[in-house]
This record gives sequence, C-alpha cells and structure tokens, in this order.
Amino acid sequence: MGVDNSLQLEHFHDNFRLEVIRLNEDDMEFDMIGIDAALANALRRILIAELPTMAIEKVLIANNTSVIQDEVLAHRLGLIPLKVDPRMFEYMSENDVPNEKNTIVFKLHSRCERGSSRIKVLSNELQWLPRGSELALSTEKPAVDPTSRPRTYTSFNCSQDSLPEFSNNPIGPKHADIIIAKLGPGQEIELEAHAVKGMGKTHAKWSPVATAWYRMLPEVVLLQEVEGEKAEELVKKCPVKVFDIEDIGKVGRKRATVARPRSCTLCRECIRGDDWDKYVTLRRVKDHFIFTIESTGALPPEVLFTEAVKILEGKCERVITELS
Ligand code: F3S
Repeated sequence: MGVDNSLQLEHFHDNFRLEVIRLNEDDMEFDMIGIDAALANALRRILIAELPTMAIEKVLIANNTSVIQDEVLAHRLGLIPLKVDPRMFEYMSENDVPNEKNTIVFKLHSRCERGSSRIKVLSNELQWLPRGSELALSTEKPAVDPTSRPRTYTSFNCSQDSLPEFSNNPIGPKHADIIIAKLGPGQEIELEAHAVKGMGKTHAKWSPVATAWYRMLPEVVLLQEVEGEKAEELVKKCPVKVFDIEDIGKVGRKRATVARPRSCTLCRECIRGDDWDKYVTLRRVKDHFIFTIESTGALPPEVLFTEAVKILEGKCERVITELS
C-alpha cells in the first residue's frame, strides 16, 4: 500500500517479550511487553468471543415436575462448563444431522422419593451417552429389521468412547458440584441434553474464558526524596503496600522506596491530600500489558492463548490476501 513500516516491524521484533508470571490449571497471568494496545485488545476479544467450546444447546425434557420451569432449567444446563476439547468436534449447521462428530449427549434422571427430604440435583449427575440419544422418536421398531433398536433422536454411527481421545478421558462437566435444581419429595427431572460447538459471540455459554483482561503496568515514581515521618506516612497511605522504608547511612535516617509497583491499583490514595502530588507521580507503561486468562475448563489457559494467536494470525493472513 506504499507504506514503509519496516522500522516498526524491526522495533517489534527486537522488543517483544512474553513472560509467564503465574500458570495453573485454570488461570494464567503473563506480561506482554513491546506490543500495541490494539493487538492486546484483539487477543482479549478473540479469547472471549471467537474461540469455540462445546455447550449444551438442546434439552429434550421427558419429565419435569420440579419448581423450575423447563426453559430456566435448559438455560442453567447450557451454562455448565464441559470438560472436552472442542478441537475434536465439528460445527453443526442448520441442515446437519446430529452425529458423533458434532454432538455430545448427556442424560439426567433424578428423583426425590416421597417421604424423604429435599435433594439437590448436581452437575455430576449428567451422564455422558457416548452412543448418542436414548430417547426414542417412535416405539415402533422398523419393519425391515425387527431386531434393531427403535429410531432415536440422535443415534451415532460409532460410540464416542471408542475414539482414542475419549476412551480414557470421559466427557463430563468440568465441576461436579454445580447445583442444577432442587427437588422436593415426589418431584422428578428426566431429560437429555445435547451439546454442540459454538462461539462466545453467539452466546456467552460458549465462551472458553470466565474472563480475559489486561492492565498496563503501573509506574510509581518518587519526584523527590521522602524521608522520616513523611516516608512512614506514605507507606501507610498505600493499601496494597507498594512502598517500603530503607535506611540511609548510619545515622538512622530513613527514606521511602517504591518496592512493589506491580501491585499498584492506581487508586490515587498516595497523591491525595496536601502537596503529595509533588512527591509522587503515577504513570502507566504504554507497551507493557499484564494479561490474565481465566479458563472455564474446556482447555488449559496456555492452550487458549496459543489458539487465540492462531485465530489472529488467520485474520491477518486474510487481510493480506484481500489486499494483494
Ligand atoms: Fe498504592 Fe494506590 Fe498509590 S495502590 S501506590 S496508593 S495509587
């Protein structure tokens, strides 16, 4: 397009750094240094809205005598995070027939017996049906093959647990103790829930992250020496203990130092009151982002990040192809 951006590219290549600060099964904090805010925001938006997961989309209710209406129950089921790698499945379009590559079926049957006390229906009662639906569309057996099973809503050609990915790793909710409903004596819920692949931009239930967010690295600068009682006052002012006190020389003099700038929340408490803005100033490092990814459980946070980068790469390639 006649724009020479080789200098910016060189700057990016030389300065870009990614440092992982914290990583566990569900969340991750890392620093992205030497990047533009637009790119950091693009990654955040892809993580929230464009990375697919599997979520319950259709609920076939055979019986529901609980106090929760069918549609509320279906909505609650949709929001339960499922522990399954969405890359193993295909999207299902309107005209597709549900099959083992695009649908996961769960059964739920819970009953509170008369005379017993109220029970909770928990997410671990969702039972994966690797062979597909068990709800028959018709109880009549086809005339051609009287030994075959009745036709079901979603019957699979092969059992999903015969696939190597799922044979030792059964599909189910990420958390076993999510309350779906409460049943009183004599009440019952019997249903089938069908999960499909989707994206957060269609409905938040498909978002793979509880949240993905960033903040710029805070920079707390002392404009002049803060000593003695003033230093102690400054340490007390900060609710997250950004400042410390250090001794100077051997005469018992003390001065304030900025010990933990990363913890600063930019609450401005340290510059509130008489003249404190002459001692302390608050800034942000414009190309240093502290990024946090909290996974809902379908994929580990570091995989979510690499998948988001792949999507961003695909978008860039599309733009380049269109332009040329
Ligand atoms: Fe502490 Fe708030 Fe200042 S977090 S450093 S008092 S802006």
